[in-house]
This record gives sequence, structure tokens and C-alpha cells, in this order.
Amino acid sequence: MTDATYMTVNGKVVPSAEAQINVASPAAKYGIGVFEGIRGYWNADDEQLYVFRLREHLARLKQSLKLLRLDDDHAIERLESFVLEMIRANDFKTTIQMRIMALLDDADGARTDNGPVGVYVQGGPCPPHPFMRSGLTAGTSSWARTADNALPVRIKCNANYVNGRLAELEARAGGFDRAIFLNSRGKVSEGPGATLFLIRGGRPVTPSPSNDLLESITRDTLMRLLRETQDLETQERDVDRTEVYAAEEAFLCGTLAEVTPIISLDGIPVGDGAVGPVTRALQKSYLDTVTGASSDHADWRTPVYV
Ligand SMILES: Cc1ncc(COP(=O)(O)O)c(C=O)c1O
Repeated sequence: MTDATYMTVNGKVVPSAEAQINVASPAAKYGIGVFEGIRGYWNADDEQLYVFRLREHLARLKQSLKLLRLDDDHAIERLESFVLEMIRANDFKTTIQMRIMALLDDADGARTDNGPVGVYVQGGPCPPHPFMRSGLTAGTSSWARTADNALPVRIKCNANYVNGRLAELEARAGGFDRAIFLNSRGKVSEGPGATLFLIRGGRPVTPSPSNDLLESITRDTLMRLLRETQDLETQERDVDRTEVYAAEEAFLCGTLAEVTPIISLDGIPVGDGAVGPVTRALQKSYLDTVTGASSDHADWRTPVYV
């Protein structure tokens, strides 16, 4: 993602270079803030940019604010306009990745435990994920995923990503492309920024939400698409580490990761070490859905230019 010319701050379009937060704010000092990563897909035939599942992302942002006891000052429709205004101000006509951040930031007034919360939206062009075609190698992290009774991953808050950073840098130092977390019970949780699916005995399996993972919007989308396009029902349950080694196929998914195949875990090939047929077919139906190449699920796509 590159920095664009304009962003929105509490709904106002400002040059990105002028947007500021207070270095003494709880957001800067302790990472007290919540956010969403959102994508918009350019459809050249329609000459339209579609934001994917914007409402669901904003609903999750509001849930994160609530769980962190932060002030939630804006209706979903208003937050939606903050995002759309940022896109229109930059006149993006390409696929983009955006971030909406709600930060405990006292730049404008006296601070309380709960507010004021500043809402910032930035974004920029985003090329296809580098591992979409080739797949990636993953390593099991020695760091445990933080538990729901410690630092809950269900809250998409800035501070959680320190746990992800530890795993990601460890994986890279070990020669892997990405990390996979186990949770404090030793069960497979997710990647630092993506949830995980396996294909075992021809059936999709994914860790259930009580395995210390983000309730991913892409995960929900893919469960629907697997059912509708491949007649496959996903099992949500505890997943053992050795099940990934034994799986026919595995992939990570997320707004940024889209559908990224995993070709090995800890040096052990998943299946025959090539990207499998269920994953390939799912990549196609996902990309058709997000770009609007398929007319199904029109309610998931918010057109920007009307
Ligand atoms: C920790 C974590 N898990 C999973 C995901 C995937 O979630 P989504 O599909 O809603 O983008 C993300 C990305 O937002 C994430 O940060």
C-alpha cells in the first residue's frame, strides 16, 4: 500500500502530510486504538470501484470500540461516508487497500479513559498478493496466540499486532514466508493477519472462533462460496497441528491475504506441495465476487462512484 494524497480525519478530507496524532496520546503510547483493513476492487467493465463488505467491516470496528470501552460517536452510515470520501478525494480507479483507524487520541481536547476517539481513513493502490499463484511456506510459531482472557484477538486493536510481529519476524528468520500460531491449548489458531482453512478427506475445515482468532469476514465469505460454488460444507472445530501436515490442501485467508495457498508447514509439504484444486477454484470464485465479475452477492459490494 502506498500513501495517497488525501485521507479523512473525523470525516474531513485533509492532505495526508497534514494528518497528525498527539505523541503523548494513549494511541501513541500504548497502542490504544482499533482498526479495519478494507479493500476496494476496480472493475474496468463497469468503470466502478467496489468496496467489499464495507458494512460488515464497520460493524466489527464498532464492536471493537465497544469491547475496549472506547467512545463510539458515529453511526455506520457516517463511518461509511468517511471511507467513501477518502476514495473519491483521491479519485482511485484501481484496486486499493484501506485502513480505518479509531484511536484514543487527545489531540483536540482533554483526555478521558474512553475518548476522544479520532477516526482516520487512509488508503492506496494495492497489487495482487505475491503468494496467490505460487503459494507460501509456513512455519509454526514458538509464540502462542494471545488468549481471549489476556489480549483478545476478537478485538481488532492495534496492540494485538505485537503478538503477530513476534511470530512473523521469527518465521522469516527461520526461512519461512509466514507464521502459523497455536493457541495456549496447543490447537491451531490462525496466521498473524489471516485465518486458516484445510481440506481434509475432501472437506473444508477451519478452527472455530473460540480458538483465539479474529472473526474474519473473508472466512465467512469463503464458507458461503465453498457451499454455493463447490457444494462443500465447512467444519468449524479444534484443529491439531499435525492435521495441517496431513491435509490435502491448506490456505490462509483475509482481506489482504485473499486466498493464499500454503504449500508446506515446517518444511513438510501440504498434500503434494502444489496448490490444490479446491483452493484454485475458490480463488477464482472469490476474485469474481469481490470484483463484481460475478453478479452474485451484489449486497457485499458498495459502489464508490455513483
Ligand atoms: C489477526 C487477523 N486475523 C484474520 C484476519 C482476516 O480478517 P478479514 O477477513 O476480516 O480481513 C485479519 C485481517 O484483518 C487479522 O488481522
